[in-house]
Amino acid sequence: MTAESDPGSKITESLRILRASEQDAQALWEWRNDALTRQMSVSEAQVDRQTHETWYRKLLANPDRYLYVGCLETNERIGMCRFDLDTNSGDAEVSINLNPACRGKRLSSPLLAAAMSRFQLERRTDLFAKIKRSNLASIRCFAANGFVLDDSDGELLRYRYHIARGDVLLDPPTSQTLAPAGTQSAERR
Ligand SMILES: CC(C)(COP(=O)(O)OP(=O)(O)OC[C@H]1O[C@@H](n2cnc3c(N)ncnc32)[C@H](O)[C@@H]1OP(=O)(O)O)[C@@H](O)C(=O)NCCC(=O)NCCS
Repeated sequence: MTAESDPGSKITESLRILRASEQDAQALWEWRNDALTRQMSVSEAQVDRQTHETWYRKLLANPDRYLYVGCLETNERIGMCRFDLDTNSGDAEVSINLNPACRGKRLSSPLLAAAMSRFQLERRTDLFAKIKRSNLASIRCFAANGFVLDDSDGELLRYRYHIARGDVLLDPPTSQTLAPAGTQSAERR
């Protein structure tokens, strides 16, 4: 595949990973209620705005939850990636949701790679993801980033990424991806 036919290879340099803020609440709510997102989620129900707001505020205040948004130079948000630390095992569960307008462009794998790099700057833990068997795009995205099938439970597959302590970062962050989110939120919008 050439760079021309693979948008994923072209956006990697301009992709910035930012900690999510209040300003992302509306977009994330809309993406959460997208039909494919619901179909591929454990809970397929619509989420009303108030429920989302309450959940979102708690999430932002929780030190064991890391929510990132991937933005292009144009400030377009291409998707989110969330890492929820399991305080018992120390591992983090990863989930990804592409902006529905950005799907099908092979952007999921670069987004996950960049978010994993960013998260590793904060916590160096093993990662896992629960993915429905039917979610072939997600399976390909996680497999491309080094996740391997670990377990299954009915329609849910569990993929794991093992990080050997002391490994080098997957993809060393640039000065852009390292800038504190608070200093970037004004300039990205
Ligand atoms: C899962 C998701 C992030 C993937 O992003 P996407 O934009 O749809 O997929 P991409 O264009 O990045 O493609 C990723 C890979 O899957 C393949 N793919 C895409 N759609 C596919 C489909 N319907 N069937 C099989 N493979 C598919 C692509 O060819 C690509 O593989 P390759 O790089 O080996 O060629 C996105 O569909 C999404 O947000 N879904 C809703 C939320 C969700 O399912 N999250 C995952 C739960 S953990």
